[in-house]
Amino acid sequence: MKKILMIAATSAFLVSGLAATEAMAGAEKKCKSCHNFSAKHKTGPGLKGVVGRDAGSTDFKKYSKSLKAGGWKWDDDHLRAWMCDSKKAIKEFTGDKKAKTKMAKQKVCDAERQDEIIAFLKAL
Ligand code: HEC
Repeated sequence: MKKILMIAATSAFLVSGLAATEAMAGAEKKCKSCHNFSAKHKTGPGLKGVVGRDAGSTDFKKYSKSLKAGGWKWDDDHLRAWMCDSKKAIKEFTGDKKAKTKMAKQKVCDAERQDEIIAFLKAL
């Protein structure tokens, strides 16, 4: 009997552990083709420590002019708008209708997915 209980407890643990891992993999998947989750840059700047940071403030060499000029901090609201539609967001953030970003629109517009990614970025 004890053994059966242990097996039940172990599989419950494994199942919840798996769900957490999948959530992480989901959040990462969308961004990691272009971003490292460290300070190292790839196609885009490294995202470690991005939450709360000034936009365009790393030593990434290939920022667009608009992002490099910055002027906002990457808080939750800015990140949400950015991961939904970066092309539109850069215009809003800069107040310049002609502003452009090199980051393709990611279409992560669902609040739950956004929460997941923001929580992931904060935990880096
Ligand atoms: C197709 C490649 C690509 C994908 C996929 C991508 N990004 Fe980017 N990202 C970039 C590039 C390139 C830049 C620099 C843009 C610029 O300078 O205009 C950037 C910039 C950023 C910045 C600004 C960082 C800073 O230092 O100011 C954030 C934040 C960001 N990306 C978040 C994300 C998140 C979150 C995801 C996943 C939902 C994602 N990106 C997916 C290419 C990508």
